[in-house]
Amino acid sequence: MVASEAPIVRVDQLSEHVGSAVRLRGWLSAHRAGKKVQFLELRDGTGVAACVLAAQDAPETFEAARALDQECCLTLTGTVQAHPKKPGVCEVLVSDLEFRPTVGEYPITPKEHGTDFLMDHRHLWLRSKRQHAILRIRHSIIKAVRDFFDSRGFTLIDAPIFTPNACEGTSTLFETRYHEETAYLTQSGQLYMEAAAAAFGKAYCFGPTFRAEKSKTRRHLAEFWMVEPEVAFMDLDGDMELAEQFLEYVVGRVLEERRPELEVLERNTAVLESVKAPFPRISYDDAVARLAQLGQTVAAEDDFGAEHETVLSQQFDRPVIVHRYPKACKAFYMKADPTRPNRALCMDVLAPEGYGEIIGGGQREDDLTVLESTINAHHLPPEAFEWYLDLRRFGSFPHSGFGLGIERTVAWLCGLSHVRETIPFPRLLNRLRP
Ligand code: 4AD
Ligand code: MG
Repeated sequence: MVASEAPIVRVDQLSEHVGSAVRLRGWLSAHRAGKKVQFLELRDGTGVAACVLAAQDAPETFEAARALDQECCLTLTGTVQAHPKKPGVCEVLVSDLEFRPTVGEYPITPKEHGTDFLMDHRHLWLRSKRQHAILRIRHSIIKAVRDFFDSRGFTLIDAPIFTPNACEGTSTLFETRYHEETAYLTQSGQLYMEAAAAAFGKAYCFGPTFRAEKSKTRRHLAEFWMVEPEVAFMDLDGDMELAEQFLEYVVGRVLEERRPELEVLERNTAVLESVKAPFPRISYDDAVARLAQLGQTVAAEDDFGAEHETVLSQQFDRPVIVHRYPKACKAFYMKADPTRPNRALCMDVLAPEGYGEIIGGGQREDDLTVLESTINAHHLPPEAFEWYLDLRRFGSFPHSGFGLGIERTVAWLCGLSHVRETIPFPRLLNRLRP
């Protein structure tokens, strides 16, 4: 066979071609050149192929290959053979190669780079083994999220990105022009999912959401992806049950599908294995008492800070659900606990190991008059919520739902200390590029 007629294969198909000539296309991720042998690593997105080029087999190609730069694009032809020492691993004996030289030197080298430098080169950094592993895990999480709801009778209803009103408080709104009026980038699709729940019973949306977070933290992005189920006739208990079954499922799928990637990240998977429902449930008031014993004070009627969540979650071997936070520190749409009106029928799921709140949700206020007065009390413009109040005028119904932040979930499952690596192109307080 003429070399150039060899079939084009992907790195993950090499083991099916032992003994044959193939062509591989990809990028040069590593190169070691000796006098008689050169070792090349070709990365194509499906894996990394170890390729050996011997001077005696292909003298011209051998000389040409000396000029290869890291990350140049190359096509090489060679024979696949089983690795002499590593069972199950293939290598390619190169007979010919073509490449497109790089323009200048590849900026990311094996030496340590600072995070800012790597973030500035995010478009190239994505090629690294760790980033590749993280984003493959992200993909599996998203697929599992969809499969969970799709297989349980939920209808996917996409929420809009341009919105006329706030959902999660006015302090983190991104304002933008919308023709002649002002609009905001959505903070949450929830209000639209409430409309969808009345039309479909069980609905969910999954899309990007935006918060103009003014502080730099390791848990906050300006643009993040959220999945938000909403279910008619489900109360807070049902909501907590749905959340724990959902998380158990997503974690299980990642463990099933992404062992090699978790290994690249050196993730301790034993702690993920214990993510099984039911999760411990604790009321806000009990959590405050527990935190006090652990030397953490929470200001009266205040939400938890990152430190509180971390300390609390460290008490449990799986996610913990905290319910019934003070109404005063939560969003306007939350229903008050009928037995304690200053507590909301809401819940947060805190991930273990200090990854903080990954889910927020609860039961929604379904009384028109009460909702009208909370909209007022929160100083929200009533006109913008007229459509939302219609859901209470025409067939008001008990309903609940929640939102899971994808990036915090990726950070937790991958064991990353910061959310910036959990999304392909992060948008942070000081980062709009690349
Ligand atoms: O608790 P939050 O603000 O709840 C809502 O938006 C509800 N409307 C959801 C609902 O009930 N349908 O946000 C939900 C989750 C958080 O638990 C967190 O995982 C994530 O969204 N999240 C963020 N993730 C990254 N960066 C940010 N700035 C985030 N803000 C919230
Ligand atoms: Mg929240």
